[in-house]
Amino acid sequence: MLTKIIAHRGSKGIRPENTLPAFEKAIEEGADGIETDVHMSKDGHLIIMHDETVDRTTNGQGRIMDQTLMQLKTLDAGSYFGYAYLGTQIPTLNEVIQLLIAKKFKGIFNLELKTDKIQYPGIEEKVLAYMNQQELPFKVIYSSFHPQSLVKMYSLNPDIEYASLFKVQTKFARRLYRKRLIRDWHPDIRWVRAHRFFLPHVQLRPWTVNSDDDMRYCFKRRFDGIITDYPGRAVIIRKSIQG
Ligand code: G3P
Ligand code: MG
Repeated sequence: MLTKIIAHRGSKGIRPENTLPAFEKAIEEGADGIETDVHMSKDGHLIIMHDETVDRTTNGQGRIMDQTLMQLKTLDAGSYFGYAYLGTQIPTLNEVIQLLIAKKFKGIFNLELKTDKIQYPGIEEKVLAYMNQQELPFKVIYSSFHPQSLVKMYSLNPDIEYASLFKVQTKFARRLYRKRLIRDWHPDIRWVRAHRFFLPHVQLRPWTVNSDDDMRYCFKRRFDGIITDYPGRAVIIRKSIQG
């Protein structure tokens, strides 16, 4: 089985992160999966962005949770990356899902709940309710840095795949693994390389695997997946190692 190449926030290295052009590019480049991050707006919409605030990647300011969808939609989420992307909007989760369906995407959709810094009330229920309404032709893996968020997701639906982003050396994390509540681990590649620590029965997909050297390291060990800003380059390197 080939190591899966998952595009981090879309093809983040060459497109404005977490925007429709970044997701489209990832599919074009042959990514096996797409990773993205979800927050909630003031009026309860599921918003795709990495940071808790819009400051770094848009021409606006302030927290997502303090703005309505209509306000967020007026912002430009493309020109921070380059003028060619001027006018690119912040997408909603629904817009991303509809794009993937339209593009006949069949890979892995890794949705990270950004609940570690802000606990958006009811986001877990809202995400699952929305996703359940869709006929999704691809596999979904939910992840979070916030253990309680994953536990809540699990209690709402134990049949879905969950990946932890938190450190496995904590007692709480070990308990989750022992009980097999979590079967996937998405750690920082620097941590994996420093500790050479692997868990049996756990699918390993480190982030952010961007250098050729890190890519080779993961492909040689046939990890289940990598999460990278450069899926196009990863496809070429994987071919040279795994055929
Ligand atoms: O899900 C893997 C990775 O995205 C976690 O870190 O900060 O890029 O969301 P971050
Ligand atoms: Mg993420």
